[in-house]
Amino acid sequence: MNALAAIERPVDTVPDTSRLRGFVTAFADLLAATRDEQAILDSGRALLSRLIAADDWLPEAFAQPHPDRYQQYLLHCDSRERFSVVSFVWGPGQSTPIHDHSVWGLVGVLRGIEKVERFRRLPGGALVDQGEELLHEGEVDAVSPRIGDIHRVTNGLADQPSVSIHVYGANIGAVERATYALDGTPKTFISGYANSVIPNLWDRSKTA
Ligand SMILES: [Fe+2]
Repeated sequence: MNALAAIERPVDTVPDTSRLRGFVTAFADLLAATRDEQAILDSGRALLSRLIAADDWLPEAFAQPHPDRYQQYLLHCDSRERFSVVSFVWGPGQSTPIHDHSVWGLVGVLRGIEKVERFRRLPGGALVDQGEELLHEGEVDAVSPRIGDIHRVTNGLADQPSVSIHVYGANIGAVERATYALDGTPKTFISGYANSVIPNLWDRSKTA
């Protein structure tokens, strides 16, 4: 047997992670070039749009819905925790609570539809409904305390999962932030992640 063939693994056991690797590398370059939030959101939106333009790279383990609650899977965290990339997976009918982020974030829909309901918090603490929007595959939304940071996200599909890819300006699963009752009462939380292992982006033996 050919020596190389002997050590080759079946192709289908190694997902093509080159797109996600290219994305996180480009995002690290962006953050090295600027700390201006609007520049990060503008250029980051273009990078995320390119990543979600094709749906051939997310390993299945990070697209699995849970029967009872939405899932947040960590795909990558920058070594300096300047940014993190997650997949959000909603089963039919699942929804987040109303929540904030406390850092900038970009949300791109990879599969399905997401309903986004936006809120603004008055100085006295009450929430004001700012309207809602449907995000479709390939569309990107942005949040930050500067441009609007409070929303509730629901799976826009009644009969199948939806999946989105998010980038945040921190290790988002470790950030203390808040959920809100409809009357504006906050409750702090740290989300963590649904997974204990992350995709291996760095095996270059099968991909460019
Ligand atoms: Fe959110």
